[in-house]
Amino acid sequence: MSARHFLSLMDCTPAELVGLIRRGIELKDLRNRGVLFEPLKNRVLGMIFEKASTRTRLSFEAGMIQLGGQAIFLSPRDTQLGRGEPVADSAIVMSRMLDAVMIRTFAHSTLTEFAAHSRVPVINGLSDDLHPCQLLADMQTYLEHRGNIAGKTVVWVGDGNNMCNSYIEAALQFDFQLRVACPQGYEPNAALLAQAGERVQIFRDPREAVAGAHLVSTDVWASMGQEEESAERMKLFKPYQVNRALLDSAAEDVLFLHCLPAHRGEEISVDLLDDPRSVAWDQAENRLHAQKALLEFLVEPAYHHA
Ligand code: CP
Ligand code: NVA
Repeated sequence: MSARHFLSLMDCTPAELVGLIRRGIELKDLRNRGVLFEPLKNRVLGMIFEKASTRTRLSFEAGMIQLGGQAIFLSPRDTQLGRGEPVADSAIVMSRMLDAVMIRTFAHSTLTEFAAHSRVPVINGLSDDLHPCQLLADMQTYLEHRGNIAGKTVVWVGDGNNMCNSYIEAALQFDFQLRVACPQGYEPNAALLAQAGERVQIFRDPREAVAGAHLVSTDVWASMGQEEESAERMKLFKPYQVNRALLDSAAEDVLFLHCLPAHRGEEISVDLLDDPRSVAWDQAENRLHAQKALLEFLVEPAYHHA
């Protein structure tokens, strides 16, 4: 199928990615100035959520409405997909009715299989492996507050999870150095690490990793689907909490990002989101603007009148 998909940051060129985040900033400005901009009138986004979401659902749904289109929320509880209809069949049928499909799922292969049978763009709204939409917002947020991230040092603290994997792809695409501070056995995807080579370094000591860093980010210690491992992870990850003292060893102008939801007292100290170095609320808002840029980029513009 010929549709352009966004399953990973590697589906775009570095220039396209920079273009998307710059466009996100423009669309944010248009909205702040109250300018109506509806290039996606009559276009419909289907949103399949196999996992919970606040930000991803709201930002895609509000984003489509603001661009003049509509979004339909699909839960596996209510669709035949949830009763075992094959992913490929669902993709064929849904993509004949919709203009784009966003999927939040467990196995990344659900996304690649859906995309292989879809006539329309498929967007990864988070899988067990990757969360590329979040990285668009993160990169937009860094650009807004500090300018170009190329050549900077970014530190991922905690679990080598889907977010961490997407930070590795971001390091390659946006040209920054990434340090990952994680316990043994919780490293990010091995193939991605191999692909990244010297661009990514693994640390065991978060303090050593954060020294001189320009951006620090973390995420929950137990991701969706890992609830049963939660107690064990809480013990193991304890030395990896990001707090004000840890940020004090970073660069003077360090920023802190958290994709949210946050668990205060676990991966971050109770006060960290109130620290002036945290821009997590701007980051959450930027999901809306960055994804509107993505939708504009992927979805065909409005129909012509007959
Ligand atoms: N950061 C993020 O994706 O949040 P939600 O799980 O609320 O969508
Ligand atoms: N790593 C987290 C991110 C949530 C937005 C999860 O997958 O649950």
